[in-house]
Amino acid sequence: MKRLTVPAIQNRKGKDPVVMLTAYTARMAQLLDPHCDVLLVGDSLGQVIYGLPSTLSVTLDIMCAHGAAVVRGSYHAVVVIDMPFGSYEASPQQAFESASRIMAETGAAAVKLEGGEAMAETVAFLTRRGIPVMGHIGLTPQAVNALGGYGARGRGNAEYAKIIGDAKAVAEAGAFAVVAEGVVETLANEIVAAVPCPVIGIGASAQCDGQVLVTEDMLGMFERTPRFVKKFDDMAGRISAAVETYAAAVRDRSFPGDEQVYKPKD
Ligand code: KIV
Ligand code: NA
Repeated sequence: MKRLTVPAIQNRKGKDPVVMLTAYTARMAQLLDPHCDVLLVGDSLGQVIYGLPSTLSVTLDIMCAHGAAVVRGSYHAVVVIDMPFGSYEASPQQAFESASRIMAETGAAAVKLEGGEAMAETVAFLTRRGIPVMGHIGLTPQAVNALGGYGARGRGNAEYAKIIGDAKAVAEAGAFAVVAEGVVETLANEIVAAVPCPVIGIGASAQCDGQVLVTEDMLGMFERTPRFVKKFDDMAGRISAAVETYAAAVRDRSFPGDEQVYKPKD
């Protein structure tokens, strides 16, 4: 199966919804790849696999290591890698240095960065130099300290208008797609209508040109998840039950059984 391309994703505007999930490891990438158009190596890995309180301390080294693993584990989906906090905001030049390192070390097809208007120049700088960029507007977790939390955005008129401006700015700068996170439904729908590239929703609207979730969230790996997460499975419950069974089998010596032990040849 030939790998999908960035232009193929860009051309999905107004057509079949783009299916996107996060992946951080090679094995998870293998399992998701046949069903997804885009695999995102999200900086959410800071919380999901490293137990960090936010995405702010995720580094370029971490993103490159996980990005390379996901590229190795996939054959079909476009792999997009998040630029971590502090690796791109200072200038378009800084962003190019970080993004080119991500592309060279991982083999991914694109990067994603957070921000609207303020990042438009950077999006254009990278795009014109051959690095496809996915935008990310609305609730941008790297700005949690400025936003004051992870609540939905666009509830007031001023913010509503600002977020539409952000979406237009990154789309006009050349982003091939834009993630709209944690925005009220009507705002998400307006963004979809306002920009020419696919809008991938998370906590946004069913009218978006695609959807993304954190895989561990949709698999039900966590007890508590935000409103916008639908649990498509209860992996936390299933893992607990399996491990409970294993622990009992070790303690009562029913594991390993005859089928799991090596016997002499003769
Ligand atoms: O880091 C991440 O997982 C993301 C998605 C939730 C869009 O940025
Ligand atoms: Na992210």
